[in-house]
Amino acid sequence: MTPSAMTSPVSTHTNYAPPIATPNAPAAEPTATSILGTYKRQAPLFVRGEGVYMYTADGTRYLDLVAGIAVTSLGHGDAGVHNAVQEALATGLIHTSNLYRTEPGETLAAWFVEHSFASSVFFCNSGAEANEGAFKFARRWAGTTGHPSKHEIISLRGAFHGRLPGTLAATDRPSYRLPFHPLMGGVRIVERDLAELSVVLDTETAAAVIVEPIQGEGGVRVVDADFLRGLRALTKERRVLLILDEIQCGLGRTGSLFAYEQLGFEPDMLTLAKPLAGGLPMGAILVNGAVASAMQPGDHGTTFGGGPLVAHVAHHVVQRLADPSLLAHVRELGAWFGQQLQDLSDRTGRIRAIRGTGLMWGVDVHEPAAAIIARAFSNGLLLVGAGEHTLRFLPPLVITKAELADGLKILEAALVG
Ligand SMILES: Cc1ncc(COP(=O)(O)O)c(C=O)c1O
Repeated sequence: MTPSAMTSPVSTHTNYAPPIATPNAPAAEPTATSILGTYKRQAPLFVRGEGVYMYTADGTRYLDLVAGIAVTSLGHGDAGVHNAVQEALATGLIHTSNLYRTEPGETLAAWFVEHSFASSVFFCNSGAEANEGAFKFARRWAGTTGHPSKHEIISLRGAFHGRLPGTLAATDRPSYRLPFHPLMGGVRIVERDLAELSVVLDTETAAAVIVEPIQGEGGVRVVDADFLRGLRALTKERRVLLILDEIQCGLGRTGSLFAYEQLGFEPDMLTLAKPLAGGLPMGAILVNGAVASAMQPGDHGTTFGGGPLVAHVAHHVVQRLADPSLLAHVRELGAWFGQQLQDLSDRTGRIRAIRGTGLMWGVDVHEPAAAIIARAFSNGLLLVGAGEHTLRFLPPLVITKAELADGLKILEAALVG
């Protein structure tokens, strides 16, 4: 743009039509190497999705027990999600920034306030961003308590809270952490042990504890409910915030809308992301009144967070995920799946441990998990690991028993190799 065009008071807007490749033009051969190599991506190219299946360009079908790592809970190509996207697009407002009010974000926030402990909600774009925001909110709140040194964030052994500087400091996997030292200060990882926590949770220094009710990346470890209840009591006693990270286990995956509903207590903050907007990027921080009243305009921000497109889609998705019949389906099918995994273990002798609930399961195997995932892949089944020797199962919540049974058959063949 020339300087005169930049300063011209006259609108230079035209209906710009981008050049469109003609159907006969040779398509550029796509290549994985132009994408920064932070992932070992599985070939071939996926081009289509429908229900619990993903399809490659040559029409090969894969049963998806990964759901984009706990994201596409309503499956692929869901008509309701597509319709919600169309409705949002029809308004012409994909984005406005958070300088202006828009209806979808306000409606979604009100829905969360009605369906949870929260008194207000901050929307963002990913899980790590939600947790980073929660850490800031905790420190802002701590600054209002009259304890000038109160700032520390505590996470637990085995935790995964994200890959950004603050969340990486709270994530307990050396291979993720070591290349990036020094990590953010004032973050400590401690054992899942109330006696140790009782020492660490000093009212003068500790601002918040962050916990996944089920540690997903850490191997699908269901954190003991009595431990969590003890932690809630301890955090209250010490005036420390309890943040639940339900980014992977929340929004229906355990058979209740929030995992905390099964624990009999409420957190001070709760973070969400993955399935929130049906595959569109979105995160959220649910906060109680005490945290909300510590936050002031200018304390935090995001350009994209909670824009009208994603918020409208998310409102559709959360209502579907809160449907009691879907939640009952997750509980019943999850119990059946856990039993099937046990039977598989008994039959094959190839499984060392089974952990999980709802439609979130982990299976420890003797072999490297990657070898089993590769064999399953070559037979049309998508699986993901959670550590070197753990297979993780995060199917779309709408999967049927027959579809899961098909997956178990392929899994059995892959296990016995
Ligand atoms: C429990 C938990 N917290 C945080 C994150 C980070 O989310 P994101 O990858 O959207 O940044 C993840 C991602 O796997 C997660 O499972």
